[in-house]
Amino acid sequence: LMGKKPAKHPTWMEMAGQEKVVVDVGHDSNLIKQMKMISLTEEEIRFAKAVRKVVEQNIDLIVSTFYQTVLDVEQLRKIIETNSTVERLKRTLQGHLLEMFSGRIDSKFLLKRTRVAEVHVRLGVEPKWYIGAFQNLQDVLIDVVCEQLPDVRDQRKAVATITKLLTFEQQLVLE
Ligand code: HEM
Repeated sequence: LMGKKPAKHPTWMEMAGQEKVVVDVGHDSNLIKQMKMISLTEEEIRFAKAVRKVVEQNIDLIVSTFYQTVLDVEQLRKIIETNSTVERLKRTLQGHLLEMFSGRIDSKFLLKRTRVAEVHVRLGVEPKWYIGAFQNLQDVLIDVVCEQLPDVRDQRKAVATITKLLTFEQQLVLE
């Protein structure tokens, strides 16, 4: 055993290097500028894909926490109760979230965000509430993912990745 180094586990960041990702936002120069501005690069998109399974394993907790904070606001609860059901919304949000961590940002991804934005405008969800909902979603995602990453460097990467992905979503949705 003398001189033998303890086995070193690869970090999640190192493992993320293997992930295949697709980033194809076409020729929309503003979108490319937006991603550059927040420095959302393939590195983060790869990392997101690597931690997707953590999100998936905790998806019930994530969406329940999210909707509880939305339902606590009376006017938002009314919007939900008159237009949908919490069960239905939880399912759509699950799909939406897992897609954010899929390692693929393409025209389908972008089009879906535009549609989701239109749905909320039609429902009358004002930007102030939408932004609040994003903050909540960010908190619970960061908590859940960091909990599973023992290495502080991975935790820092997770915070950066999650905040960038959610900021990008807001850039797409709050146009
Ligand atoms: C629908 C995501 C905030 C109420 C949806 C859908 C998604 C989504 C993916 C499905 C859209 C579709 O039909 O294709 C999100 C995200 C949010 C957010 C990511 C912010 C982080 C909110 C807030 C409310 C809300 C704050 C408060 C009232 C609804 C309702 C629908 C809906 C009522 C249902 C529309 C229907 O069933 O036709 N949302 N949402 N959402 N959202 Fe949100």
